[in-house]
Amino acid sequence: TQYDTSPPVYPSPNIKGVGGWEAALEKAKAFVAHLSLEEKAEMVTGTPGPCVGNIAPIPRLNFSGLCLQDGPLAIRQAVYASVFPAQLSVAASWDRALTRQRGIQMAEEFKGKGAHIALGPVVGPLGRSPYGGRNWEGFSPDSYLSGVLVEETVTGIQSAGVQACTKHYIGNEQEIQRNPSTVNGTTVEAISSNIDDKTMHETYLWPFANAVKAGTASLMCSYNRINGSYGCQNSKALNGLLKEELGFQGYVMSDWTATHSGVASIEAGLDMNMPGGIPFTSANPSYWGGNLTTAVSNGTLAIERVDDMILRVMTPYYFLNQDTNYPVVDSSTAPLSFFPRANWVHEFELGPLVDVRAGHAQIIREVGAAGTVLLKNVNNTLPLKEPQNIGVFGNDAADYTVGQYSLNIASGIAAGNYDIGTLAVGGGSGTGRFTYIVSPLDAIKARGHSYGALVQYITDNSVISNGGLAGLAPSPPDVCMVFLKSWASEGDDRSSLIAEWNSTVVVENTAAVCPNTIVVLHGAAPNVLPWKDNANVTAILVAHMPGQESGNSLVDILWGNVNPSGKLPYTIANQESDYGRNLLNSTELLESTDPDAWQDDFTEGNLIDYKELDDQNKSVAYEFGFGLSYTTFELSNFQFEATMSNASRVPSASAQVQPGGNVELWEVIATVSATVSNTGTVSGAAIPQLYVAFPAEAGEGLMVRSLRGFEKVTVAPNATATVQFPLARRDLSYWDVSTQAWTLPSSAISAFVGFSSRDLKLNGQINI
Ligand code: NOJ
Repeated sequence: TQYDTSPPVYPSPNIKGVGGWEAALEKAKAFVAHLSLEEKAEMVTGTPGPCVGNIAPIPRLNFSGLCLQDGPLAIRQAVYASVFPAQLSVAASWDRALTRQRGIQMAEEFKGKGAHIALGPVVGPLGRSPYGGRNWEGFSPDSYLSGVLVEETVTGIQSAGVQACTKHYIGNEQEIQRNPSTVNGTTVEAISSNIDDKTMHETYLWPFANAVKAGTASLMCSYNRINGSYGCQNSKALNGLLKEELGFQGYVMSDWTATHSGVASIEAGLDMNMPGGIPFTSANPSYWGGNLTTAVSNGTLAIERVDDMILRVMTPYYFLNQDTNYPVVDSSTAPLSFFPRANWVHEFELGPLVDVRAGHAQIIREVGAAGTVLLKNVNNTLPLKEPQNIGVFGNDAADYTVGQYSLNIASGIAAGNYDIGTLAVGGGSGTGRFTYIVSPLDAIKARGHSYGALVQYITDNSVISNGGLAGLAPSPPDVCMVFLKSWASEGDDRSSLIAEWNSTVVVENTAAVCPNTIVVLHGAAPNVLPWKDNANVTAILVAHMPGQESGNSLVDILWGNVNPSGKLPYTIANQESDYGRNLLNSTELLESTDPDAWQDDFTEGNLIDYKELDDQNKSVAYEFGFGLSYTTFELSNFQFEATMSNASRVPSASAQVQPGGNVELWEVIATVSATVSNTGTVSGAAIPQLYVAFPAEAGEGLMVRSLRGFEKVTVAPNATATVQFPLARRDLSYWDVSTQAWTLPSSAISAFVGFSSRDLKLNGQINI
């Protein structure tokens, strides 16, 4: 079948420096010319050191090595650094400018702490399964939205002089069996994500193409297998799709211990082995390192391939001027690294402990609010005026009782199941160490006390579940806020889509005594909301993972300092069973000793999240793209204009391949526009969205509609604004498997402009 194998693509294409890296490539060539064979091996094989990944220094050449640090929302283990909102919150903001700013400010912190490479952003997982344990590290199961935001993030990070590493490439859609396991002494291979060519292009590869176009310095190949062969030695994925088709000029690094071979992985396109050794924390043994020099010496491996690997590593380094005045690694990093000092085989220069937070709290607070989605708001519950008697309930409202770092505290925040303490980011390598956290309770107390309100609170869910609310006085409060949370972490998938800690009882008990109950959710998404139609639940806010300013971001929305504009970057179904589970896990599989047992055919193709639910015509609780405001908007005046220079249905084969692929794929060939008016009484930001429906010729498994444009625009009451949706050739093309080309349909594409995937106000045709 189409899933059986991954076709071989050899040899690995060489870097050309196209897309603006030409001069940097020349510098890299001069550098490579000075290296001995042993040094060459060290340039591509990680080594124990102060960072989560390290390339050894070569003092003789004034090269101080490379420091690679996690992750997508903070320098994971750093002290005196900021914890930014997770990409899930960024996605819910649908805000290009804030996304880029976050990238810039995060990178300033990486640079300040001496990290050359930030191990983010994430567009794999994309979010095929609502249960995926790392979906929150990425943006959205919608490829287009993820594509736009990854481009802004990579651009932001790199404009601050730090290399981005877009990860995990590709098909890493679940955590369970992401790595090989041992069952009764037999090695059982990692899960194989079996993805057909059309789905690969139209869904999973799509946002990676944006990252490559934005010039991402590196990509991290993933733990899983793809169509039968490991992500870090899959020549079709690395040599074929990435380096040839997308024209990627940077380097591919392995996820940590995802390298399973020497020459085979190198020839398949892997350029850097991390962390270097076969064991996680020591340099030896290694598939690369000394074995690489042996392979070159005995003629098994061409030195030209090794040189290309180093050119790919060093060209972005020179392009971003990392060879001049780059800060040294912060001394606080070393004791927090994974590598025992005893395992270090190289000396690393360490600098003083620096506080890199600068004024970043402001943007963190803004993104946190921008990524908060208002789902329900009856009786004008929100924004709050000055309620005198406020109730705050639930374990997610409070400050931590188990520490500020969500990885290494065995029984606390690490396990994920820490009880009392707000959830502001998820766990695993994508987490961050909080220098401080503004909890919702702290911020609400501060705001309420500023005008003399009474704030009553219970943050122990078992007390709330066992009659504790009877102790309130006066009762009921004017407004009650219930805080729920859903944990998710690298290494595990979610087992339920209902918030944890007996959340349903906590909401119901609160609503039973309080006719004006606001529910706030933090954490992983999507969640189903069993209490959403309870008449006493008057407002619902999904606050996602807002980072260290959590409480401040929320209070800005609650009291109306910020008018909510966040939109769901995924669908909230009526019940769990409405979603395709899209996740493999069973006792039978876990106990199987068949090395090839874990086969995951992506038979749903492109139809994930709203595309699946639209296809099945299911009603949903809150659809993709939905979110309320404190004002109201209308749309009018659908306009379409075509601006094609090449009238052919496929990009011309002679056009240049630049990072991102054939340049013609990125040419804007049409623009849709519409007018949005604010028909309410307060200023607010609207996010009009453009969806397209392709004609049947676009092939099997067609989406009912796909997002192809959005724009966040602030409009004053009674004012109007025009929004433009520029459409690149790729946006209006489908992947033709037989011709292997992005192809424009010959008949019209239907277009819809609306305020969500199901609230489509305008429609028209795209005729090109
Ligand atoms: C494994 C994770 O999958 C990856 O995202 C991370 O960057 C590395 N470990 C290093 O911590």
